[in-house]
Amino acid sequence: MEPTRSEGVFREGRTLFTINANPGTRVYGETLRTVGGVEYREWDPFRSKLAAWLARGPPAELPGGVRSVLYLGGAHGTTVSHLSDLWPHAEIFVVEKSPTAFAPLLALARHRANLYPLLADAQLPERYRADVGSVDFLYQDVAQRTQAQIFAENAHVSLRPGGAGLLMLKIRSVTQRGPPGAIVRAARELLAREGLAIRSETSLAPFSREHVALGVRA
Ligand SMILES: C[S@@+](CC[C@H](N)C(=O)[O-])C[C@H]1O[C@@H](n2cnc3c(N)ncnc32)[C@H](O)[C@@H]1O
Repeated sequence: MEPTRSEGVFREGRTLFTINANPGTRVYGETLRTVGGVEYREWDPFRSKLAAWLARGPPAELPGGVRSVLYLGGAHGTTVSHLSDLWPHAEIFVVEKSPTAFAPLLALARHRANLYPLLADAQLPERYRADVGSVDFLYQDVAQRTQAQIFAENAHVSLRPGGAGLLMLKIRSVTQRGPPGAIVRAARELLAREGLAIRSETSLAPFSREHVALGVRA
């Protein structure tokens, strides 16, 4: 098991792992591996876009020293659980608007003290800004038409100056028409107009053919 450039992410061959913060338990049926007395959870790039981004290699590298995270679109907590493994001392605020998805997220948080689930709409960041405060890292995976706008508004409200962000842009949720390149370009332009510096653009193929990850700095 080898460390990667992203603190807390390990690799064996091409397979990624995080150290299980809740040993003996799985979150989504993932494989557990014990090496040298440490239990690792396999991080599946076909199930988690963040793992897909990391698996694509440089320039993908998670920021260091993260103490607070705002995660938009937590769903059942697949990716959230790996962030919880990675940054045990961070506060990870997870916004999810579907009550059905929120229930398993709450159950996950009962066993992981660094998770703070919020049943809320990411389009209305003013509603949770007081709970979240200023964060080091903003992550979004919501598959909405206005994804880039939602990301920019949350960055304005909650991302500290110099903080890092990662938008998992689902191209065909923006529009069914037009070339993918033009849709990504429009998202980049919107983020730039909103004062966010684009640091990277990564296709998540072959893990997800529909997504492009945009890395930004506030
Ligand atoms: C693709 S899933 C997220 C998967 C998750 N990020 C993971 O990797 O484990 C998208 C989630 O975003 C949620 N969502 C969509 N629009 C939202 C909004 N406006 N506010 C909050 N959550 C939203 C959906 O309910 C859904 O659970």
